[in-house]
Amino acid sequence: MKFSDQLEQRFADMVPHYPTKRSVLVPMLLYIQDELGAITDEAIHEIAMRVELSDLEVRNVISYYSMLRTHPIGKYNLQVCTNVSCLLRGGEEILEHCKKKLGVGNKKTTPDGMFHVEEVECIGACSWAPALMMNYDFHENLTVEKVDALIESLKKS
Ligand code: FES
Repeated sequence: MKFSDQLEQRFADMVPHYPTKRSVLVPMLLYIQDELGAITDEAIHEIAMRVELSDLEVRNVISYYSMLRTHPIGKYNLQVCTNVSCLLRGGEEILEHCKKKLGVGNKKTTPDGMFHVEEVECIGACSWAPALMMNYDFHENLTVEKVDALIESLKKS
């Protein structure tokens, strides 16, 4: 696979800023995912060669991070935290509400391709629990009403 001009530029810009090539792996995987919608087999092979890792090592990194994926999902990815702080402040109820409102199970996408719901571990917003990430945006101190407002605003966008 050949990287797009934009990915080539990002790779070239980042490599000199890190002590080893492999340090650019995670940010490059995010850029690839944003551009392609998912991290394809071809992209895994390409980035593995560039950062001098095996395809398997790259796959292991992808499987570790919940924000990285090898298959396309909905346009809006609702990653709901149910780890300890969020659990104690209603995180499970928020997750159940998202699933019920959108009519999907965990790690599933709505038929129209708009929303994907996923239960995740701590997203680093414990002080503002319960929290979720919608793509790269944090939504904190959640209530069912706030979730409804978020989903409705996304439907209109
Ligand atoms: S436990 Fe939910 S953000 Fe940390």
